[in-house]
Amino acid sequence: QDLGPFNTFGLAEQARYFVRIASEAQLEELVENPIFKEQKVLWLGGGSNMLLTGPFEGLVVKLELKGREVEMLSDSEARVWAAGGENWHELVQWTVGQDLGGLENLSLIPGNVGTAPIQNIGAYGVELKDHFESLRAFDLEEKTWRSFNREECQFGYRQSVFKGEARGRYVVTGVSFRLSRQNHQLRTDYGAIQQELEKRGEEPSIRSISEAVIAIRQSKLPNPAEIGNSGSFFKNPVVSKEDHQRIQKQYPEVVAYPAGVEQMKLAAGWLIERAGWKGYRKGDAGVHNKQALVLVNYGKARGAEIKALAEAIQASVYTTFAVALEAEVNII
Ligand code: EPU
Repeated sequence: QDLGPFNTFGLAEQARYFVRIASEAQLEELVENPIFKEQKVLWLGGGSNMLLTGPFEGLVVKLELKGREVEMLSDSEARVWAAGGENWHELVQWTVGQDLGGLENLSLIPGNVGTAPIQNIGAYGVELKDHFESLRAFDLEEKTWRSFNREECQFGYRQSVFKGEARGRYVVTGVSFRLSRQNHQLRTDYGAIQQELEKRGEEPSIRSISEAVIAIRQSKLPNPAEIGNSGSFFKNPVVSKEDHQRIQKQYPEVVAYPAGVEQMKLAAGWLIERAGWKGYRKGDAGVHNKQALVLVNYGKARGAEIKALAEAIQASVYTTFAVALEAEVNII
């Protein structure tokens, strides 16, 4: 099976085995299948956060469970549940259309609902964890179903238990959120949102914020349907205050935000741009010309070329700033 259509980098790598799963019963059946037991397995959601660097010599399982529900809990709160195979942005638009508040800043993030908690997706001042209630997952070790509340997920910046100690153990099949029906806590503190609302002459609302976020993302981030990419390729590095001051002495314009009391989060896009990589291109692998944190496949790049580019950027940023960049994308 060609995996090209199933990853947003558009990398046409082959999988030895491929199966689509559309229900929990099918998942339970699959784990008893000899192929599943013998092969290494790659779980695939929207394919928007991975870099395939060669053929996958094993079984690729594409999770396609569908379904969405809304339950009014009170005059002020609603619970929204969605199956893991639902598209994230479609879920957000569905909640925005019902005037339910919480997910609007997370508009237009690629990927599926089931993978969103794994890396605690975030954008424009909001993270998934802020509105998360619980998720349902299949435990591949115990062959049982269980649920995880927010604490059990151990969310952090682009981080959760599913990327940490429980890596590879659970398959997420559904996620529920707590959203507001009134007194919405609109988040417009992110400068770009304010500017976009002003430009449009609109008051902050669930819908106007969602539309502003869509416009901002479309202006900065390449559309995977046109240019292959996986969003931010690296995490924004969190460094000590001392390290930040050291860099600031040499580069007063360094972009950074406080992260907790003792640390600062540096804008990796700034570091990469300042190290001279913005708009760089070698063959079909490149650094996006409007957002240096995004690596792109202009057409026929191989995953290995993009990986080599990522490593060259890491080395260069380290030489220039003595800061280590960590990949946000899963390299497979
Ligand atoms: N910047 C540059 N040059 C660049 C890019 C950025 O100087 O080429 C500087 C600018 O000063 C800019 C600042 O960095 O103001 C921050 O840039 P941006 O607002 O684009 O956000 P980011 O920190 O680069 C993060 C997330 C994005 C998310 C945006 C908006 C990570 C790894 N990335 O990017 O998430 O959409 O904030 O909240 O945290 C993703 O994870 O795939 C993703 C796109």
